Amino acid sequence: GLKKKEVNVLCLGLDNSGKTTIINQLKPANKSNHLGPLSAEWKHVSQTPSQEIVPTIGFNIEKFKSSSLSFTVFDMSGQGRYRNLWEHYFKESHAIIFVIDSSDKLRMVVAKEELDNLLNHEDICCKRIPVLFFANKMDLKDAMSSVKVTQMLCLENIKDKPWHICPSNAINGEGLQEGLDWLQDHVK
Ligand code: GTP
Ligand code: MG
Repeated sequence: GLKKKEVNVLCLGLDNSGKTTIINQLKPANKSNHLGPLSAEWKHVSQTPSQEIVPTIGFNIEKFKSSSLSFTVFDMSGQGRYRNLWEHYFKESHAIIFVIDSSDKLRMVVAKEELDNLLNHEDICCKRIPVLFFANKMDLKDAMSSVKVTQMLCLENIKDKPWHICPSNAINGEGLQEGLDWLQDHVK
């Protein structure tokens, strides 16, 4: 058959925003975690991902396949000391997933700073690559709405790239599929 198109996806965002948890949800072993007609018991089990999630050191690479695409996801560490690694992967990236902890109001300005650095970088600003935002941790009581997150990050200012924001809960998988479907449709 035809070789699947290779797509490099960069997963970015501050530390503790939920990047690794999101990617972990996409692994086949965790398919049962996806929200569906699950019993209360199953939901409880899904609170404990099959792999323990720890802060990422440097980055991890994960591969996924859809019917037409072959994805390589770079799950970058969001810790301050590793954020300088991000730019080394900008040139090769075909899509970006930017994850925000919607409950972390204090660091929303830091998230905006990192997003602006990304969007203004010479290897990104010239490319019409899709940027998917997950307004993650929407399950938390004090989480901001995706509309509020859109305002705080001034996403309406992004004119030269297709972008989309999805509220998500990476613990149970809610919102992830919608976002990834959008990404698949917009990656060239
Ligand atoms: P770094 O690797 O340090 O950059 O962090 P990360 O963005 O990969 O975050 P990670 O996936 O390690 O998640 C950080 C913490 O947030 C973990 O304790 C997760 O269980 C938790 N978490 C992730 N997503 C959600 C969510 O949607 N809701 C809630 N309540 N907790 C979440
Ligand atoms: Mg991580």
